[in-house]
Amino acid sequence: MKALILAGGKGTRLRPLTHTMAKQLVPVANKPVLHFVMEQVAAAGIKEVGVIISPETGDKIQASLGNGENWGVTATYIMQDYPAGLAHAVKTAHGFLEDEPFLMFLGDNLIQGGVSELVTQFNQDPSDALILLKEVPNPKAFGVAVVDSQQHVRQLIEKPTNPPSNLALVGIYLFSPLIHKAIERIKPSWRGELEITDAIQELLNMDKMVSARQLNGWWLDTGKKDDILEANRVVLDEYATAQVLGKVDNLSQIVGRVQIGAGTQIINSIIRGPVVIGEQCLIANSFIGPFTAVGSETNLADVNIEHSVILEKCILRGIPRIEDSLIGTGASVLRRNSNHHALRLFLGDDAEVTL
Ligand code: G1P
Repeated sequence: MKALILAGGKGTRLRPLTHTMAKQLVPVANKPVLHFVMEQVAAAGIKEVGVIISPETGDKIQASLGNGENWGVTATYIMQDYPAGLAHAVKTAHGFLEDEPFLMFLGDNLIQGGVSELVTQFNQDPSDALILLKEVPNPKAFGVAVVDSQQHVRQLIEKPTNPPSNLALVGIYLFSPLIHKAIERIKPSWRGELEITDAIQELLNMDKMVSARQLNGWWLDTGKKDDILEANRVVLDEYATAQVLGKVDNLSQIVGRVQIGAGTQIINSIIRGPVVIGEQCLIANSFIGPFTAVGSETNLADVNIEHSVILEKCILRGIPRIEDSLIGTGASVLRRNSNHHALRLFLGDDAEVTL
């Protein structure tokens, strides 16, 4: 079995970060979401991985994954010239996929527990597609499925105005090669895209069997700022370990599961885990509270921060309280020591400041 990972698209919902970065490379607990996806695909025993990339960010995705050897797989890159939908991505990858069954995984989705059981179920199952479903409070924002008591899918709709159920399609699918025939038969949706949800519905129209499996663990769709913060919280909660490679002076206190990278110095600060701090950072006279990830080469002085994601090479100074924030690579947030209350801002396109 092969895998197809989708790492194209424009990431409009994560601007301004995605002006310079692919959404699949935004880090959660200091690791790009896409690397978690590669780990899960490799753990399911799949060796041949096709990666859909876009002209805008394809080079960055390739630089990050390389030839796949870090995960013991072979990565093949497939260019999708324009974002014409998930089913269009499958069509573009048909040459790579050949007529074999495959696992399709959206590169900005993360699930608890990986995909090994799903792959095993599909291999033992006679159906033409196996989809993963999760109950959600806002089904209108997703593809939605109706299933019968045997977990056979009866109907699928993409972003319905009147959702027939609260079961959303998680961005992880298993397909037999019949999906290519179904894709040939569908038309673009109202948003102008060839929807994979419509292609799976087409399998049903062709009297083929589509099975579902319900996910009990967490599912994180990291397409927006708050989703990244939530993913960071959940992943730190589950995976953070205590490991100090950098230097901590004796005025500092490290409490709970805190990971501190090599070359980082902690001076007169309190760090309360779960927290991960990258390499070559300088943290002075600060408090870093639970569920915070600090990227490498970032400097913090006189800062109190929690439940936030700070990317690499940032400078934060003299900020009494930061929470629920996502700060992009190389950003500076500085407070001057004066009674001058006016703000002085130099913000990039689509920046967001809440005061
Ligand atoms: C896509 C699919 C949708 C699915 C979702 C999961 O939505 O079209 O069916 O529920 O991924 O992340 P999109 O991210 O394109 O809005």
